[in-house]
Amino acid sequence: MSTQSRRYRSQDWFDNPDHIDMTALYLERFMNYGITPEELRSGRPIIGIAQSGSDISPCNRIHLELAKRVRDGIRDAGGIAMEFPLHPIFENCRRPTAAIDRNLAYMGLVEILHGYPIDAVVLTTGCDKTTPSQLMAAATVDIPAIVLSGGPMLDGWLDGELVGSGSAIWKGRKQLAAGKIDNEKFLEIAAASAPSAGHCNTMGTASTMNAIAEALGMSLTGCSAIPAPYRERGQMAYETGKRIVEMAKLDIRPSQVLNRDAFLDAIVVNAAIGGSTNAQQHIVAMARHAGVELKSSDWMEYGHKVPLLLNMQPSGKFLGERFHRAGGVPAVMWELEQQGKLRSNRFTVTGKTMAENLAGRETNDREVIYPFNAPLKEDAGFFVLKGNLFDFAIMKTSVISPEFHQRYLSAPGQENIFESRAIVFDGSGDYHDRINDPALNIDENCILVIRGAGPIGWPGSAEVVNMQPPDALIKRGINWLPTLGDGRQSGTSDSPSILNASPESAVGGGLAYIRTGDTVRVDLNEGSCNMLISDEELAKRKAEGIPPVPASQTPWQQLYRATVGQMETGACMELALEYRGVGQTLARH
Ligand code: FES
Ligand code: MG
Repeated sequence: MSTQSRRYRSQDWFDNPDHIDMTALYLERFMNYGITPEELRSGRPIIGIAQSGSDISPCNRIHLELAKRVRDGIRDAGGIAMEFPLHPIFENCRRPTAAIDRNLAYMGLVEILHGYPIDAVVLTTGCDKTTPSQLMAAATVDIPAIVLSGGPMLDGWLDGELVGSGSAIWKGRKQLAAGKIDNEKFLEIAAASAPSAGHCNTMGTASTMNAIAEALGMSLTGCSAIPAPYRERGQMAYETGKRIVEMAKLDIRPSQVLNRDAFLDAIVVNAAIGGSTNAQQHIVAMARHAGVELKSSDWMEYGHKVPLLLNMQPSGKFLGERFHRAGGVPAVMWELEQQGKLRSNRFTVTGKTMAENLAGRETNDREVIYPFNAPLKEDAGFFVLKGNLFDFAIMKTSVISPEFHQRYLSAPGQENIFESRAIVFDGSGDYHDRINDPALNIDENCILVIRGAGPIGWPGSAEVVNMQPPDALIKRGINWLPTLGDGRQSGTSDSPSILNASPESAVGGGLAYIRTGDTVRVDLNEGSCNMLISDEELAKRKAEGIPPVPASQTPWQQLYRATVGQMETGACMELALEYRGVGQTLARH
């Protein structure tokens, strides 16, 4: 069967008369699992399946099954599948934090795609960083690539109520602190929130990043929201396998899809779905690896005014199954498209424009996806702040509750401005040790500050900024306080924290010099956040130096610290940005 339209890079390995000795060596070992030299030399594209699932990546484990349907699709379309493992990333379990693995998995995939006879690749995504790491690598290598999401778990239920991934944990730990539930009940809630295979069923970082992949145009239409156990998921895997072969034949590469318009649309979609604050660094990182410049001001300029359209936890009520039935990402994008809010005349992996992909995708469930002109909330995009504590931090405004607004943002003459007394913690150990210390005298006029939680300080940047108040306050009904930090917070958290602060304390950002008892002034009118101390006092504190950070515990931690940038610019491995398009250069023998 000859469907060949061009010479593939794999032929440099398998069909290279100038290096017949090497070709013999390359070919022979693939035979030991039954593949024949004729297949490998038939001029068909070799399609990699980047396998992110394993026993220690439970959120992505469904891909071990889905890969079978991907292979069926690849074969039927005339390709040859070669599945290989990725470095695992499991958000909830990896210590010191899964964030440190995004760049490691990225680097590993770049090496595989560059150094092996692979012509195109299916990226199997799911848990938070498994999506951006693979898209960053695909952008770097720039061979044909398509995303297959694993899909969220089924909706969780307990006592007649929806219980969502992560969100249930944040709620449960407050109930535990308040003495309303015991440990057993807490574990029961956690188990109920995870009823099946799949990734988090809330609009946490996993659902967000898969939605973003689809919004960028890197997956088939409707791919991201299909729950992992649904029959449509296997069908999508089959169609994705078929499509990547066509993409290989036509040489459709990430560089044709991942342009500035696509990333601006990603910012818009992220706001409309109430996406995770982690999307900030991942979107920036993917853009930079694709050679696209995103400015920090783009978040305000293109994202902030976008309304919240999706009623899904943590910003809203529902979970993944209902979102999928309501039409998923294309139905949200359809709303935005009708209002001219997208740059949809752009190419996608379907071979069509985004506008063509979205045709006829209006939702039929207005409880889940709201009309643009009557949204769930106005101005839902990230709010960008700066001041003497940091040059850049974001706040997720879609989760600001009416109570938060009432308590902090509505004083007459001081609308959208509040001042709080800082309680400063050096890392999460310090927070846990001291949060219930009565000597700190924490009340509702305090802001909880955490530092040493950024990419270099932690290392990796930790999801610790959504700190809960002391138990005594929770017992009095004060369930949250304003928080601020150079770390991240879980995408499933509903805290309106000020986070991703860059530069971080560990590299001498302003957070290094704040002290407990300082007043912090947050002004959402002008987008500022400052500690109110004199220049002399600041100079004195700078002379005292920055708080120490823990030593690296592994070689990768040291290498990561030596190569990583700040969260404002995506926490990229900076030196990697020089290597875009390396799949077009064949690896040396
Ligand atoms: Fe893996 Fe949420 S912990 S998807
Ligand atoms: Mg997370």
